[in-house]
Amino acid sequence: MARVAQVTSTPPGLTSERGCAITGWGSALPSTVVTNQQIMTLFDTSDEWIVERTGIHERRAADGPFVSPRPASSPPNGMGTTAQLAAQAGAQALAKAGLSGADIDMLVLCTTSPDQPIPATSSPVAEALGIKGGGMDLNAACAGFTYGLVVACGLVAVGAEKILLVGAETLTRLTNWSDRSNAFLFGDGAGAVVIEAVEGEGSLLGWDVGVDGSLQPLFFADYGGPGMSMRGQEVFRRAVRMTVDSATKSMERAKVSAADIALFVPHQANLRIMTAVAERLGLPEDRIASVIGHTGNTSSASIPIALAEAADSGRLAEGDTILLAGFGAGMTWASAVWRWEPGRPR
Ligand SMILES: CC(C)(COP(=O)(O)OP(=O)(O)OC[C@H]1O[C@@H](n2cnc3c(N)ncnc32)[C@H](O)[C@@H]1OP(=O)(O)O)[C@@H](O)C(=O)NCCC(=O)NCCS
Repeated sequence: MARVAQVTSTPPGLTSERGCAITGWGSALPSTVVTNQQIMTLFDTSDEWIVERTGIHERRAADGPFVSPRPASSPPNGMGTTAQLAAQAGAQALAKAGLSGADIDMLVLCTTSPDQPIPATSSPVAEALGIKGGGMDLNAACAGFTYGLVVACGLVAVGAEKILLVGAETLTRLTNWSDRSNAFLFGDGAGAVVIEAVEGEGSLLGWDVGVDGSLQPLFFADYGGPGMSMRGQEVFRRAVRMTVDSATKSMERAKVSAADIALFVPHQANLRIMTAVAERLGLPEDRIASVIGHTGNTSSASIPIALAEAADSGRLAEGDTILLAGFGAGMTWASAVWRWEPGRPR
């Protein structure tokens, strides 16, 4: 049964009596690996060029345009949709939190590659996981998951108890496989967290979100068009600036400095962007959570995948302060300073 706590007379969101904490996490990648050597069969490029410019060695592809015309080298892997990846990551996060779908008050699915225009992709995910409490999609491109974190904490502030927040993408369906300027960047996958209400100050210590709609032409995909179109260099320059500005605001609001950040979990778009941002923020490279080498850019899924891999590999300790920051088409940006405390009583 979905549970919604009573909203008190205190204006929602203006009280520090109710906070949120991440209590479960998970990730899912389709089994089909697409190496840079395979990309080299599509257009004139090289493994060295891709690695040097982006840090990407391989990415994963769901069944779809990349896998389907290549059955000999890439047989179907049974993961064909954003919903399937989301459900797999979501199920892991629920198991880690010791919950079932029936406990969830709201599913927030962050995606920029929904399976259909109607209905929202959160509907099949809710069905797969047995969630009845509420479900919606959130599209803020590659900043989506961090937007979702802020939305989830807002829902907790107004009475929700348990949120499943998922970032899931099948970007290889939106990739223009003949465009050598960006086709090597993207991959498919999903990451998820369970967010639960806790007494007192929660884990969200500071946040910032923004959008500059005048920058739409830098990165877009049209219905019926050939796929994603991007002005890479212009996105690159702005991405560094926007991410640094946003992260700086979140850190100021949280009253923390670079020395307090145990782990920086950036959107995984390009290793050069990630390291340039870290350097400008005064964060050493060994504090960057990086999965881009084996995932490519998975948009809304990249931060929760990196977070789940960091947690599973023992890189996070109870009470650590982490910084999440992303940017994306729109252009959008978002950052959050978060205390990692899955052991918090609830
Ligand atoms: C896409 C990106 C990797 C390209 O790297 P770059 O260093 O900007 O490369 P450029 O576009 O300036 O191209 C440099 C040269 O490489 C060539 N080139 C382009 N694509 C190539 C490829 N796949 N293989 C080999 N050479 C390539 C260009 O033709 C150009 O050659 P020239 O100097 O002779 O004209 C980079 O711009 C980037 O990552 N941008 C941000 C993208 C991003 O984060 N998007 C997601 C937003 S959420």
